[in-house]
Parts: sequence; structure tokens; C-alpha cells
Amino acid sequence: MQMYDLIARTRHGEALCDADIRSIVEGFTAGEIPEYMMAAWLMAVCCNGLTAQETTALTLAMRDSGDCLDLSAIGGVTVDKHSTGGIGDKTTLVIAPLVAACGGYVPKMSGRGLGFTGGTIDKLESIPGFSTSLAPDRFLTQVRSIGCSVIAQSGDLAPADKKMYALRNLTATVDSIPLICSSIMSKKLALGADCILLDVKYGTGAFMKTPQEAAELARAMTQVGQLAGKRCRALVTDMNAPLGTCVGNALEVEEAIRILRGESDLPLTELCLTLAAHMLSLSDHGTPEECRSKAGRVLTSGEALERFSRMIAAQGGDAGVTEHPERLPRAQYTLDVRAASDGFLQSVRSEEIGLACLGLGAGRTADHAGIDPGAGVILRRFVGDAVRTGDVLCTVCGSTQTLCETAAVRVQNAVRIGEEQPEAVPLVSGIIG
Ligand code: URA
Repeated sequence: MQMYDLIARTRHGEALCDADIRSIVEGFTAGEIPEYMMAAWLMAVCCNGLTAQETTALTLAMRDSGDCLDLSAIGGVTVDKHSTGGIGDKTTLVIAPLVAACGGYVPKMSGRGLGFTGGTIDKLESIPGFSTSLAPDRFLTQVRSIGCSVIAQSGDLAPADKKMYALRNLTATVDSIPLICSSIMSKKLALGADCILLDVKYGTGAFMKTPQEAAELARAMTQVGQLAGKRCRALVTDMNAPLGTCVGNALEVEEAIRILRGESDLPLTELCLTLAAHMLSLSDHGTPEECRSKAGRVLTSGEALERFSRMIAAQGGDAGVTEHPERLPRAQYTLDVRAASDGFLQSVRSEEIGLACLGLGAGRTADHAGIDPGAGVILRRFVGDAVRTGDVLCTVCGSTQTLCETAAVRVQNAVRIGEEQPEAVPLVSGIIG
């Protein structure tokens, strides 16, 4: 069938068959379908959605557009985790060694930050010497021996997604559930883990603004994962405020080390334990409750921290940072942001904190731009806390006084103080699959 007819059918809400969808993905990836036609089809998908069958066909065709990893050399059940992106989300740094210390296998490929959201690879690269590009056999050998490795996406994984995402970015077609679902799941499926745990976020710093929208995306993603033969589960989690106390690359590594040392009792630690428990239970290590207890034990015993040190050393990094976090890059200038009135901290808008970090150089505005590993924002008070005028709410860290002053204005605008204590919102609002 001609692309013109396929666009018209999706525009009129008629379902396409698997072969038609595959022909669209293959034709576009090969350069045979022009961008204006693909953009029109993507817009029709945005407006009318796709059925579960169509979304699965789209995901599988995108997965098959490039390489698919073979993880069988690891010799055990493998488990991957994906977060739909957030501010201050350093959970992978904690969870990969935590799950490995409990006997799981975590072969993880992560991304760099783009725009106001951070990327795990940038965080890890703030550790002196740490390499995120390992040859495939070294990656697999490390996962077999240590239980975890986190590297940057390499090879030609889901090239159709790369091309489609670039076009979606230019044509206001990013925020569509079937398109986000197929984009993320095509890459996850190409990575080849047996089990996939999804952390689908909602809130000011996320694609999905409400728990209901996030649950809908989570349902679509778990359904596609399961139809593709994977064990798949999703947690729906809050991203209205940044996760934990630090936003920024080296600052987040330092916070992850504090969690792995058992020195943090923030809700973020609980979230890490919950995510780890689900990853372990998906991959045959017991019920979520048993796995939660096991994860708690390896955190307090120091085994998870030791696993993190071994992972850093195996990837060429300075493993001494786990004992001496002061060896991580630090910003030269800091500036405190103070409460302008008495009351309760009502909200800390995560998108604004992310944008402040971007301005400080902690993130990048273009694909290959450099970043400042020491820059970021430290949160000193949390939503729900009582504050007095003049209390320090946040500290901005940057390479110049001027950058800190500009970011401080943005951070000041991100916080809201009011008279009523806001109701506490649970970090995890749903489990799907
Ligand atoms: N992340 C992705 O990889 N793709 C999307 O479409 C949205 C978020």
C-alpha cells in the first residue's frame, strides 16, 4: 500500500496491519519515505493513537531496524531498568550494584542528559577515569563476574527511533503515548534483557503530567514488553519535586554513595530499595517482599557499596571515590538560596531546577556539547518542611559567581512557600504488570 493511503487510514482511525507498519518503519529508515510523509503519519498517530497491536508492531519493527544484543554469554537471567527521565534521578547508580550484590545480573546501557533532564552516563563520567564505552565482550564478562556494568548506548541500536525521534522533536509529535512507548521499548528490547522494570514518572519534570497519564503509558509499555516475550513491570512514580537532595553529575554520584553507605533515610532510598526489589523478583530471586528485605540487608552490610567500587574499578575509574567522595569534581563557587517568608515549603518545581542546572552547565543544550561535572543544585529543605525567613533552602554550585547568581534567581522562582502544610504524596503511586 502507498504511504499516502497509510497516512489517510491512520488519520481516519483505521487500524493498520503489522506488515503495513513495518513497511512504514523500514521505508523511512531506508530513506524511501520522505520526512514530510512520515511527519504527517506521526501527527495522525498523535491525534488518533494506535491500538495495542499496532503499537507492538511499530515497536518490533523499530527494534529490528538495527542491532540486537545477545546477552546469553552472561549465563543467568538478566534484568534491565528504565526510567522515563527525571531531575536528580540517580537511582541507576544505586540499583545496579544493589541488585548485583543480591545475585542479579544488570547489563545496563544508559543515555547522556539532553535538555533539562540528566543522564546516567554523564553522572558516571564525573568519576575520574570511568569509561562508559566498553567493547561488547568486556561488557558481558564484567556483568558475568561482578553482576553489573553501566555503559553508553553503542552500536546501531534501533536507528529507526533515532531518525523518528529527531523528526518528532521538530514536528510537535513527542508527547504521544504510542510513540513514546515504541521509542523507549524498541531500544529496551534491542538491548535484550530477559526482564524489564519501568519507572514511569509523572509531574512537572516529566513527559506525563498526571499519575493517570503515567499509568496509561506504563500499561502500554508493559503490554508491549510482555507481547514481545519479556517479563515486564512498571512503577508509576512522582517527579513533581527533584529526587533526593542533589541535582548535577558529581553531586548525584556523591549522593548515590551516601545511599549505598546507608547514610540516607530519604524517600529516595526507599524508592531505590523498591525498584531493586521488583527487579530481583522479576528475575527469579523471590517475592517482592523477600527481595526488599534482601536489598535492605546488602545496603546495610556494605556489600552494595563494595559492588559499586568493583564496578568503578572494572571500568577504569577511581574506586577510592566511594571512601573519599571529595575526589569527585567540585564547583568553585556556591551561593545559598534563602526562604523569603515563613511557612511550609509547598513545592520545588523540578523542571525549573533542571533548567537552573542546565544554565550552570550541568546539562547540555546540543548533542555533543561539553558539561561541567561539578555544577548543580543541592536541596537543603524538602516539600512539607516548615521554614523561617532566611533559612537556606538550596545551594547553587557553579564555575563562576555570575552563573550562580543567574541560577539562584531561577531556583528562587522554583520554590513556593505557603501557610498550609501540603499533604505528603507517596513516591510510588502504582504498580502495573
Ligand atoms: N524517551 C525516549 O527514548 N523516547 C521518547 O519518545 C520519550 C522519552
